[in-house]
Amino acid sequence: MTAVKLRRLLPDPGSVTAEQALDGLALGDLAPANRPYVVVNMVATADGAAAVGDHTAPISNTADRELFHELRTHVDAVLVGAGTVRTERYGRLVRDPQRRARRVARGLAADPLAIVASHRLRLTPDLPLLADQHSRVVVVTASDAELPECAAQVSYLRAPADEEVDLGAMLTRLHSEYGIRSVLCEGGPNLNASLLPAGLIDELFLSIAPTLAGSSGSLSIVNRAPLAHPIALELICLLESQGQLFARYALRPKVIV
Ligand SMILES: NC(=O)c1ccc[n+]([C@@H]2O[C@H](COP(=O)([O-])OP(=O)(O)OC[C@H]3O[C@@H](n4cnc5c(N)ncnc54)[C@H](OP(=O)(O)O)[C@@H]3O)[C@@H](O)[C@H]2O)c1
Repeated sequence: MTAVKLRRLLPDPGSVTAEQALDGLALGDLAPANRPYVVVNMVATADGAAAVGDHTAPISNTADRELFHELRTHVDAVLVGAGTVRTERYGRLVRDPQRRARRVARGLAADPLAIVASHRLRLTPDLPLLADQHSRVVVVTASDAELPECAAQVSYLRAPADEEVDLGAMLTRLHSEYGIRSVLCEGGPNLNASLLPAGLIDELFLSIAPTLAGSSGSLSIVNRAPLAHPIALELICLLESQGQLFARYALRPKVIV
């Protein structure tokens, strides 16, 4: 299948594939001393809805899907909330053997580690991710329950008894205990809303669909994140395909009032 071409608007205008657009990302090299570097990848309508009818497919396009899968070839781990795993029926994270080969050529494991955040551990073994024998899954949870037997290799990072999950502490443990230097968070909106106020997001890859959802839209990409002040974004890269814009932003501690 021929890779779709995107128009790069910033920097260096030109025509690129998703693979070329992300070439040389090396996110692990940007990791601070005590935790992995964390980038979030989300899609939203032009009026800010993170899903239409509870799904992202209506606001995605071919280039969006290629960038989504290509980003997974650049990171040690993919972090996702249990709500998204359930709704979007997550399976093996990198299914294409060529993409797995690209990961290995970059010095990464063939399959990224899947990190699933869940308060209540309501995940059933028929979820394609858990039913996949190639997948390694770390469940970050406040629950002391265990998932039922499944084909994936599952381990747990648990919050201390009677405490909420401290995502910063969990990321530090993923860094020290699992050697994770780069994390791609794929949402969802409620998980993002925990990461953002805690200062745990370094970059945002945002795909903006040329669509207005109005009341058929749902959550925003950082749903009701309790921020004392808005956070400034610095645009690093901007791509376009079929009217869909793909922005890469760095989050800056600078405060906008
Ligand atoms: N636009 C996009 O790019 C995008 C990306 C992803 C998802 N979505 C959409 O978003 C919707 C799902 O939204 P959502 O907000 O429910 O998804 P979510 O954030 O993936 O899931 C929420 C669940 O994740 C767990 N969780 C969240 N924060 C946690 C924390 N700090 N510690 C421990 N566990 C935590 C909890 O799991 P338990 O319930 O197991 O306790 C919580 O109920 C779907 O419609 C999906 O299609 C859109």
